[in-house]
Amino acid sequence: MSKRLNVASFFSGCGGFDLGFEKAGFNIVLASDFWEPAARTYRRNFPNTEFLQEDIRNISPKMLKDALDKRNVKKIHVVIGGPPCQCFTRLNNNNLRRDDERNQLFRDYIRMIKILKPDFVVMENVADLLVRKDEHDKPFRDMILRSFNRAGYRAKYKVFETEKYGVPQKRRRVIFLATSRKDVEITFPKESKKISVVGPFLKRLSKHKNLKNHEITINEPHVLERIKHIPPGGYYEHLPDHLKVKKMRNGKLVTVKRYGSYYRRLHNEQPSITITNNYIIHPDEDRYLTNREKATLHTFPHNFVFEGTLEAVSQQIANAVPPALAERIAKHILKEYY
Ligand SMILES: C[S@@+](CC[C@H](N)C(=O)[O-])C[C@H]1O[C@@H](n2cnc3c(N)ncnc32)[C@H](O)[C@@H]1O
Repeated sequence: MSKRLNVASFFSGCGGFDLGFEKAGFNIVLASDFWEPAARTYRRNFPNTEFLQEDIRNISPKMLKDALDKRNVKKIHVVIGGPPCQCFTRLNNNNLRRDDERNQLFRDYIRMIKILKPDFVVMENVADLLVRKDEHDKPFRDMILRSFNRAGYRAKYKVFETEKYGVPQKRRRVIFLATSRKDVEITFPKESKKISVVGPFLKRLSKHKNLKNHEITINEPHVLERIKHIPPGGYYEHLPDHLKVKKMRNGKLVTVKRYGSYYRRLHNEQPSITITNNYIIHPDEDRYLTNREKATLHTFPHNFVFEGTLEAVSQQIANAVPPALAERIAKHILKEYY
């Protein structure tokens, strides 16, 4: 490879996907998202990238051209992005609205691709997308593959288990890789034999002083009491009965059951559960993880600073593609195709 290759990113959020591509050696020339806190985080950490804070549905060919002209960019080699996934996740199963218009945002992603004409497109989403159907009972997966085809791209997909790609976290994500090049076979990076686990990542973090986004939440006494009773790797079910939530049912006080991430304490020798914006308990201390610790388990470096309220920062981290996974994919593209 003789020159740095250019990337444009959409639905960029705080830039997890982008950071992995940057670390692999790509030049991130253009990024975009309409969410203010994510835009501020992005601009702070990628000062050389042209950032469009816009609803993707409003981005016109002229806006893209002007942004690229500003940086004197003639060609985009790779487009990356993760259209929002709220409507596809299992968590939303009960109130899943198949005609939710957010399901259509990937069509705008394809529109960007038709304008920019990159060699490769990488699209990330929750693995459940593969089993979701639209209001006419058509699988989204087929619709996406067909949309790529109609735009002149061949596409393949693979489900990644992130703990096998350098991320100390169990997270299932589907990656679509598409290309307009006729001379290549679409392949994906291979998984490592070694699974990444929590302990070494948090240990490395503890060597740094004055960390940003590292505010500790002070808990109510009854919450602290529960936290103290959860063993490493355990969750709510491991509490003694008198500390579990009680509810009146048919005139009787009953113990409430909860799902596996509720009051979950991490285990140093295992990967973390999927990082969402829920509370997760520190493996060794009787408190919840800070946003900085969550970011670390997502493989963000300690000096990547997030902007916004505690809640907004937590959401940006939960939304992100873990940079270490993105880097593996980016390096694979460089090695195999350029
Ligand atoms: C799953 S997150 C992407 C995270 C990102 N790939 C990363 O690695 O950090 C989806 C992003 O899409 C943005 N988004 C949702 N609807 C949008 C729209 N209509 N236009 C632009 N951005 C949108 C959200 O604000 C959110 O940051």
